[in-house]
Amino acid sequence: MDVIEAIKERKSIRGYKPDPVPKEVLEEILETAIRAPSSMNTHPWEFTVIAGDVMEKIKQANIEKLNAGERPQLEEPRGQYTGIYRERSVALAVQLFQLMGIEREDREKRMDWMRRGFRFFDAPAAVIISIDKSVGTGGQFDIGAVSQTIALAALNYGLGTCIMGQGIMYADVIRKFTGITESKLIVICLTIGYPDWDFPANKIYSEREPIEKITTWCGI
Ligand SMILES: Cc1cc2nc3c(=O)[nH]c(=O)nc-3n(C[C@H](O)[C@H](O)[C@H](O)COP(=O)(O)O)c2cc1C
Repeated sequence: MDVIEAIKERKSIRGYKPDPVPKEVLEEILETAIRAPSSMNTHPWEFTVIAGDVMEKIKQANIEKLNAGERPQLEEPRGQYTGIYRERSVALAVQLFQLMGIEREDREKRMDWMRRGFRFFDAPAAVIISIDKSVGTGGQFDIGAVSQTIALAALNYGLGTCIMGQGIMYADVIRKFTGITESKLIVICLTIGYPDWDFPANKIYSEREPIEKITTWCGI
């Protein structure tokens, strides 16, 4: 697959076939992805791959906390989006709910959709990315670079991904079942698996602002 094609084809996959992803394939993807650039070649990313019974236990514990009303939160919370940024995120939710046939007032279905996120969209595997807390928040840029590289490399094997925060929002659950210590910041995860193309939300094609609105050309 050509690079441009891969970049344009990648999109967030939120419905997967149950087929497991072979460990060798996951290894190859990570091996490729660590060629991503990082600030001063610090390559601070650390991967924890979850699948099988560990994935099941994490999913169950996540759902228990969510159902108990425990507030989910990233360890390094992003700010509250306002203005155009909030509008874009609402537009995405509207698009997803339309595809999934979820009415705005249907609280139970909306809650079901949310639970799906905390179940890693029922993907067979996920890659959790953490960094040593000594690296500081600047390391998150490097995590972004490696995350997108994983997502692109996965396409080569017919795999889909979603870079996502929901699955790791109960960091204590992740630490309990993976052994990630308190000295590490759990930054993000990617769900990974073979896409179920019949799953309605996978038909999404998210909007972008046109280049002319976001680019200033200087001297060219
Ligand atoms: C840092 C980050 C966190 C994200 N967290 C979630 C999430 O928790 N749940 C979700 O459904 N999608 C999540 N996404 C996926 C975005 O919604 C998605 O990338 C965006 O809507 C653009 O769509 P596309 O990936 O299909 O191009 C996340 C993406 C990023 C980069």
